[in-house]
Amino acid sequence: MRPAIRPAVVEDLAAVAQLDEVCFGNEAWSLAAWEGEFERLAEDRVILVADEGAVAGYAVLLVPPVVVDVVELLRIAVAPEERRTGIGGQLMTAALARCAGRTVLLEVAAGNESAIGLYGGFGFGQISRRRGYYAGGEDAVIMRWRETV
Ligand SMILES: CC(C)(COP(=O)(O)OP(=O)(O)OC[C@H]1O[C@@H](n2cnc3c(N)ncnc32)[C@H](O)[C@@H]1OP(=O)(O)O)[C@@H](O)C(=O)NCCC(=O)NCCS
Repeated sequence: MRPAIRPAVVEDLAAVAQLDEVCFGNEAWSLAAWEGEFERLAEDRVILVADEGAVAGYAVLLVPPVVVDVVELLRIAVAPEERRTGIGGQLMTAALARCAGRTVLLEVAAGNESAIGLYGGFGFGQISRRRGYYAGGEDAVIMRWRETV
């Protein structure tokens, strides 16, 4: 069964923070950082969760209220055992549906083939590169999406 994609509510905080730790290990956001994200839901954050009874994936967007300002996709992840079943795509579809008429930017490690594959499939193009940006020296790639009509 495909999970339902829905906006996160505060009751999802613990499950999302826990899944973030599974997905990102040392690079996971702290519980305090996640609390900050959830506090900003009323301001400029959109957090989507893939809900199949448990949280199987999530996406975090910074959506500034001024529509000419770019949206940033801050994070997207799917539980390791559920990857490659379309959930990342479902989250992206739902995220981009909220970005009509806007520009979306993201930053991704140059070696993250799965994420770059996912973004490329949704029409994100590489616009620049930050050399040696990450700890360990990996480059960051900046990708941009604009709705094509
Ligand atoms: C990136 C990520 C969210 C993709 O989620 P997913 O649920 O596996 O993605 P989907 O099954 O919807 O795949 C959609 C498309 O993405 C691309 N893709 C996904 N995984 C891929 C991989 N391992 N290699 C190449 N392309 C891949 C493919 O184009 C795929 O379409 P296809 O299966 O029809 O070929 C997931 O791999 C993940 O959680 N990674 C760890 C967290 C992370 O690095 N997030 C990004 C930085 S914030």
